[in-house]
Parts: sequence; C-alpha cells; structure tokens
Amino acid sequence: MIRFGVLGAGRIGKVHGHTIAKSGKAKVAYVADADGKAAAALAADVGAKVGTVEDIIKAKDVDAILICTPTDTHADLIEAAAKAGKKILCEKPISLTAERTIACLKVVEQTKALLMIGFNRRHDPNFANLEKRIRAGEIGNVELCTVISRDPGPPPVSYIERSGGLFRDMMIHDFDMARFLVGEEFITVHAFGSSIVDPAIGKAGDVDTASVHMITKTGKIAVITNSRRATYGYDQRMEVHGSKGMLRAHNVHENTVEFSGASGISSAVVQNFFLERYSAAYAHEVDAFLAAIDKGTEPRANGHDGLMAQKLADAATESVKSGQAVKIK
Ligand SMILES: NC(=O)c1ccc[n+]([C@@H]2O[C@H](COP(=O)([O-])OP(=O)(O)OC[C@H]3O[C@@H](n4cnc5c(N)ncnc54)[C@H](O)[C@@H]3O)[C@@H](O)[C@H]2O)c1
Repeated sequence: MIRFGVLGAGRIGKVHGHTIAKSGKAKVAYVADADGKAAAALAADVGAKVGTVEDIIKAKDVDAILICTPTDTHADLIEAAAKAGKKILCEKPISLTAERTIACLKVVEQTKALLMIGFNRRHDPNFANLEKRIRAGEIGNVELCTVISRDPGPPPVSYIERSGGLFRDMMIHDFDMARFLVGEEFITVHAFGSSIVDPAIGKAGDVDTASVHMITKTGKIAVITNSRRATYGYDQRMEVHGSKGMLRAHNVHENTVEFSGASGISSAVVQNFFLERYSAAYAHEVDAFLAAIDKGTEPRANGHDGLMAQKLADAATESVKSGQAVKIK
C-alpha cells in the first residue's frame, strides 16, 4: 500500500486526501499545512498523522508526496521531494514561470524522480474518450479545437494574488487540454484579457475574462475562452473539428431531467464546480499515479507537459500586456 504525505489541506488537498483514503490501494500517512487546524481536520478525516512539511518529505514511512500547497511553493517542494527519493504528484502549475519550471525539472531529471502533474481533465471520462477517438482517427486530420472553461464565481483576491494570474492558474488546464487533444505543439499565442467580472481582480493586476488563439506549425488552430463567472455553474465544454467530422463533449448537468412546455424547454444547471464535476477525474488521476508507481506506466501528464502548458500561459500573459502575438521559444 502506497503511503502518501499530503502537503496542503485546502480545497484540492482535501479532495485528494479523501480520494486516496477511499481508494483502497493507498493511504494518507501524514498531512502538513501552514494552518495547523486545517492539517488536523484533514488528518482526522483520513486517519493520518499531522507533521511538518520538512519531516514528511524526509519520512521513511512515506513513499509519495502530494503537493497541494499554493503555486509559488510547488517548485521548491518538488525539488526537496525528488532529492529525498519520493514519488511526486504535484498540483498545477509547476511554478510561476517557465524559467523556474525548467530549473525544477533539471533536479527531477538528475534524481530520476517520478513526477506527475495534476492536469485532472486528462482523466475525465468524457474528455479521455474524446481524445482516444481523435487518436483512433474518427474525425480524420484535426483542424480546429475549441475549449470553453468558465468558473461559477471568482476565488478570493488573496488566492488570485498568489496564483500567477488567470493564464497560469486557470487557463493552464485548457492549454494542457488543447495540447492533449490537438496532439501537436503550438508555436504562436495571441491573447486578450480584461477585468469585467470583479474590479478587485483588475486592481490585483489580473484579468477575469480572457480568450486565446493559438496555432501549430502545421496550421492546426485552438481557441480557448475563460471567465471567472458563469451564472449557470461550472461551464466545461470542448469541441474538436477535423477533416472527417467533429467530436464534442458537453457539460455535465446536476440531473438529466428536462422540462418541456409552452414556455420552452429547460434543464437543470450544470454541476457547480470542480469538486463535483471532476470527482471521477480525480479518482482516475490517483489511480494513474499509483499505476505509474506500481507498473512503471508513463504518468499521463509529466513534467514536460507541465512545462509546455506553462510556456503557453507565460506567452498569453505577455501577449495581453503587449497586445501582440507571442512566439513560443
Ligand atoms: N487541479 C485542480 O482541479 C485544482 C483545483 C484547485 C486548486 N488547484 C491547485 O492546487 C493548489 C492549491 O490550491 P487550493 O485551491 O487548494 O488552495 P487553498 O488556499 O484552498 O489551500 C492551500 C493550503 O495550503 C496551505 N499552505 C500555504 N502555504 C503553505 C506552506 N508553505 N506549507 C504548507 N501549507 C501551506 C494553506 O494554509 C491552505 O490550507 C494551487 O496550486 C492550485 O493551482 C488545482
């Protein structure tokens, strides 16, 4: 049974902690959090002990480190865990800049550590099905990819301030999905962004509404739109168009009941946020990480995937500032 040390017991740390505890294949041995109460609460829920970050990383009775702390701590923690010989599952993104990520991945390479990045959407059954069918050739040559991602509401400004901004924090998932679905690297990124949902986000130097156009060397195009607001829930849609047809993944609604009457036709709102919408994806993600440890399978999103998504996020951030398209180095 793989023994995890969970670092960070906030929103996503709790999700992963409970998923591991329920998996039957692994257990949470220790939890650390800068907030002692948060650590104690999660540890009590999953039958683990509370420890410090440093002690857990070095602990002999810990096989794997799950990094769920704020983004600006990830690269340091990956390096420390890699040097301590641990398997690592780290939440996205790896760091706040591609430069820091490259330095971090050098340590991962030198130590030959197993590193998987928490791009949970690759593990969502609907999106995974879409990708499998693209690779099987069902829609022929991929030409256009459209990704729509809107949160039900913005996170607190204190979270935004440490997040690296919308492109690194939120759209990073969509950059990864665009790469995953299109199957080629993007070479140019042109982004637009504005702060029209919450003026406090603009004051903190970030955007809350954004769109990005990207193109690959062979001419495949991806369009991503993001908003920190959607009045009808967590809007997560993807569409890929190719020479032989189109594949589309719809939203997942709270229930499947539809009303039809003289006033029109209506259905339930879409599932509210990532906890509900991606619960299956998080469970498959942990399974994929355990398989990578046990069977040596390649993690579905590795350090290179983390870096390439990060480069796109950095380019989009730069493009919004300059108003120009940015080439990926
Ligand atoms: N893949 C996903 O679906 C997903 C969803 C949400 C968040 N995330 C990522 O997970 C990370 C955490 O996000 P969150 O929403 O859970 O944030 P959060 O603020 O809810 O939780 C972070 C926790 O880390 C603790 N913490 C802060 N600094 C620490 C340190 N130095 N050492 C130990 N603990 C520390 C905080 O006290 C807090 O409890 C972010 O990088 C975010 O991008 C991923």
